[in-house]
Amino acid sequence: MERDAFLKDLLSRMTLEEKAGQLNLLTGTMDATGMKDSADLEEKIRTGHCGAVFNVFTPAATRALQEVAMASRLAVPLIFGYDVIHGHRTIFPIPLGLSCSWNLALIQRCAQAAAAEAAADGLHWVYSPMVDISQDPRWGRVAEGSGEDPWLGAEIARAMVHGYQGENLAAPDAVLACVKHFALYGAPQGGRDYHTVDMSRRAMVETYFPPYQAAIEAGARTVMTSFNEIDGIPASGNRWLLTELLREQWGFRGWIVTDYTAVSEMKNHGTAGSDAEAAQQALEAGVDMDMVSECFIAALPSLVKSGVIAEALLDAAVLRVLATKWDLGLFQAPFARCDEARARAVNGCEAHRDLAREAGREAVVLLKNDGLLPLSQSTKVAVLGPLAASGRDMLGCWIAAGVGGISALEGIREVAEVTEDWQAAEVLILVLGEDWEMHGEAASRTSIRLPKEQRKLARELLETGKPIVLVTLSGRPLDLSWEVQKFPAMLHAWALGSEGGRALADVIFGIAAPVGKLTMGFPRNVGQVPMTYREKPGGRPFDATQKYTSKYLDVENDALFPFGYGLTYGTLQHGTVWLDRPRMAAGESLTLFAELENEQEIPITETVQWYLRDLVATVSRPVKELRGYQRVTLQAQERRVISFKIQDADLSFPGRDLQPRIEDGEFEAMVGPNSRDVQVVRFWRVSLEN
Ligand code: BGC
Repeated sequence: MERDAFLKDLLSRMTLEEKAGQLNLLTGTMDATGMKDSADLEEKIRTGHCGAVFNVFTPAATRALQEVAMASRLAVPLIFGYDVIHGHRTIFPIPLGLSCSWNLALIQRCAQAAAAEAAADGLHWVYSPMVDISQDPRWGRVAEGSGEDPWLGAEIARAMVHGYQGENLAAPDAVLACVKHFALYGAPQGGRDYHTVDMSRRAMVETYFPPYQAAIEAGARTVMTSFNEIDGIPASGNRWLLTELLREQWGFRGWIVTDYTAVSEMKNHGTAGSDAEAAQQALEAGVDMDMVSECFIAALPSLVKSGVIAEALLDAAVLRVLATKWDLGLFQAPFARCDEARARAVNGCEAHRDLAREAGREAVVLLKNDGLLPLSQSTKVAVLGPLAASGRDMLGCWIAAGVGGISALEGIREVAEVTEDWQAAEVLILVLGEDWEMHGEAASRTSIRLPKEQRKLARELLETGKPIVLVTLSGRPLDLSWEVQKFPAMLHAWALGSEGGRALADVIFGIAAPVGKLTMGFPRNVGQVPMTYREKPGGRPFDATQKYTSKYLDVENDALFPFGYGLTYGTLQHGTVWLDRPRMAAGESLTLFAELENEQEIPITETVQWYLRDLVATVSRPVKELRGYQRVTLQAQERRVISFKIQDADLSFPGRDLQPRIEDGEFEAMVGPNSRDVQVVRFWRVSLEN
């Protein structure tokens, strides 16, 4: 039967309770991701009071609940969701780490593999991508996002949505993406999770919205609300946000789910006096599905019966959910994903493990190298530190159904001679940083230094005089100001996933050269945060010769390791930068050229970045903004000229009315290996009409 006719007929046969049931998302007990459990899950499914379930996976467990749903009065199948954040069984680097690859094709392949594993394990829906921009490393959830930059964040958001959803949702390896957390969740005051967000509309439009919007444009079928308020109204009850902006302006056609118990949390925010009031506010704001709080199922039927809420509003939400169930093929084949043989073949398969190793290698960022790295495989090494032998910490936060994880020690042992007695070792590899519980949700920190006892260990080992490679794991930028003065070589390895230790060993021993570039700057100390390379110039930009300019007394303004920073083995010479013409007319483009030279005897790979500055505009513009990049590999002794196109779209910014605008005037284009070390050329945009 044709979809619309089928859904119309189904809807006409549903009671108000069954309709509200489709909007009721409950949690199972195979994982715990929030404060409240869902009681009597099976009974609620049997009576049509539950439309979707999360935290339940495997063909057997999802089949068991789907059978209950298919035996309910109208036999409406369930959707199964889960927090597949950086892989399902095979775990890829944490998203912040993977974003440092700047490799969109790789990121998309990881999302595809995660989707295939999730779908093979009975799931239809992943709570990813998390696209919250954040400039605050105190916030533990920076681990789940792609860093500080809206332009790169938008590119990554698109790649992930395409990777998860593919071309056809009913395909056995596709899942629904869920863009989260809408919106602004990455800017809680003081970096404290779940805390208040208070932001100008300009900051929303310029910095925080672009990745959400990109994900919607890429076709993401669902959106999750954030816990925070926006202009005093919690996101889950914010009609401006969910209906006027997301649906009407951005054209979102899918369904909106709240975050965990966010509907009832409106009582804590102090904007609803009861669950019923919260339910009404959420539905009227544009929410379709209530995660765990059960306010919808408890209140919506009577709110409709008493005429407080129009039934048409409820129907519209129900239809959005049912239409997606149809598109997933659930009405035709509710058990299609409950296939044990497929789960065995796909989950943790060799191809995905290989991909995890490749992704792990690309996520590693070389922060410093006095020439100690790469080590030769014949070097006798000792692998030390509290995280050296931990596979779990290599996986990081939010690991879904992932297990295992290759530790640094295990990975290094496979390629080199590891000495048990550190005194006999020629080089020490010291693995320090955050364990997996120190980042992610509900893991904010006011210190972003290495833990005290780890610094003590570092001091003691430095006193031995042996050369030490410092490897740091973490889910956030760290303050490594002390370490950078002491250690000859430093690799930042985030949490690299299932094959993490092997990927790390590949980089340490030069089997692969490091290519990672930071997507969030590492500050000099926590007092600088929140911070971004995209800062505004202000009226008194820093001038070392002038007292009354913007600065700190005790530390430089910029990051210790800036956005876009990352070394590799060997250094490319960045030569002249020039433009084909000094002026562009409206609608024209310019070509920006950069000369690169590899004077060494090994191939060198570099991600070359270009940034823009609008020098005079009707609103103040950032001192630089990423506009493009290219990863290039130059062979030994190769010289090459690369080029970027500068187009009108690159010059667009939100004008005084926050609408996109392109203005004439003078601009700077900057090219370099990171956001700090750039060469600058100037050009003019001049409209033909003028
Ligand atoms: C998190 C979400 C997650 C949800 C479901 C919440 O606590 O904020 O990111 O998707 O739980 O587990």
